[in-house]
Amino acid sequence: MSAVPAVERWGATPSRLLRADHGPLPRLGRAALLAEIEASGLTGRGGAAFPTAVKLAAVARVGNAVVVANGTEGEPASWKDKVLLDSNPHLAIDGAVVAARIVGARRVTFAVGRANRAVLKRLQRALAERSDGLDVVVETVPDRFVAGEESALLNRLNGGLAKPTMRKPYEHGVLVQNVETLANLGLIARYGAGWFRQRGTAYEPGTVLVTVHGAVRNPGVLEVDLGMPIREMLQRFGGLTAFPHAVLVGGYFGTWVRAHDVLDLPLTNTALAPVGASLGARTLVVLPQGACGLAESARVARYLAAESAGQCGPCVFGLPAMADALEMLDLDRLRRLAPQVSGRGACAHPTGATRFVASAVDVFSDEIERHRAGRCSGAAHPPVLPLGASREWR
Ligand SMILES: Cc1cc2nc3c(=O)[nH]c(=O)nc-3n(C[C@H](O)[C@H](O)[C@H](O)COP(=O)(O)O)c2cc1C
Ligand code: SF4
Repeated sequence: MSAVPAVERWGATPSRLLRADHGPLPRLGRAALLAEIEASGLTGRGGAAFPTAVKLAAVARVGNAVVVANGTEGEPASWKDKVLLDSNPHLAIDGAVVAARIVGARRVTFAVGRANRAVLKRLQRALAERSDGLDVVVETVPDRFVAGEESALLNRLNGGLAKPTMRKPYEHGVLVQNVETLANLGLIARYGAGWFRQRGTAYEPGTVLVTVHGAVRNPGVLEVDLGMPIREMLQRFGGLTAFPHAVLVGGYFGTWVRAHDVLDLPLTNTALAPVGASLGARTLVVLPQGACGLAESARVARYLAAESAGQCGPCVFGLPAMADALEMLDLDRLRRLAPQVSGRGACAHPTGATRFVASAVDVFSDEIERHRAGRCSGAAHPPVLPLGASREWR
């Protein structure tokens, strides 16, 4: 999906991340800012939900820091960072300024995917409109699934390929923070931790940007409260357009869940854990009855195999073998492969892909016999899950 969809639709609760009228940043010192972020309970919005204050404090301790604003969003099913940077780049820049103040950085690099020229131009224009006394640059990276993994991003920004390494950026004074996380820093610096905690739940506070597509009337990106029931959230996207078979929660590193098991759960990691799911970067795809979850998952498994950075054996050989086994519905082979692939490799790519494939086999088990008999119930349905197309690593 290369173009930014027309997305900012105002729900009953006003969107604060996608609105560009927050005024100047307050002049707080680094200790006061860090204390406020710690009190807010903000966690990273890039997928792993790591406590932001902990990472800021760790990088500040190393010294000689730089900030990398991660707006790469290499997952083709996710649009939220592109929408944020397109609709409100100043808030993400504010957050990068706050982060730089806390970790003592003089340099900030925004990284965005290469295909999205509109986002790049919008960010560059926003930077030209302001002066923060920092060295702020924008770099483009290849639109590959793993290019936004933080060590891959760092490798690319240092002139190498956009492939993961064993380096942990924060140990070297590099703060890599998702742009939505940064936008939240900009808001918390202005309005405080108490204000941030007015939305969301006590354990998972705040709002999040969600990308929703599949069987909803208005696919796109909206800001919603953590803890909102998923069924209610789908109403904000115009409601369902077909009977829902399953929901992919958390994008291509995520988990398929049967629709009746997930629609009445609140949108939090705590609530999703018992059904084996987590929010990740909050991409949700509603699969309509009539589309084939096995066929959809086999296409994505093949795509994820092709997105391996080609460096670690379990990933290079395991992911194509897994895609073959899913296409052939060789469940014994899938069962044997899973422990040989998951948890291996230099990054979480094989683990995420294994989780996705395992959930497909579980949730779409009723399709398996039909496929073995040569009948796919969704053969006539157009593809639901989008795939990326870039072949570059540099
Ligand atoms: C394969 C892979 C791809 C990733 N892609 C992205 C991405 O596109 N954008 C992003 O912000 N984080 C991505 N991450 C997570 C980053 O490594 C990193 O944890 C994140 O940018 C940290 O920001 P946060 O703490 O604000 O969430 C990816 C991780 C993995 C394992
Ligand atoms: S696990 Fe796969 S994607 Fe990750 S570094 Fe190794 S080869 Fe690359």
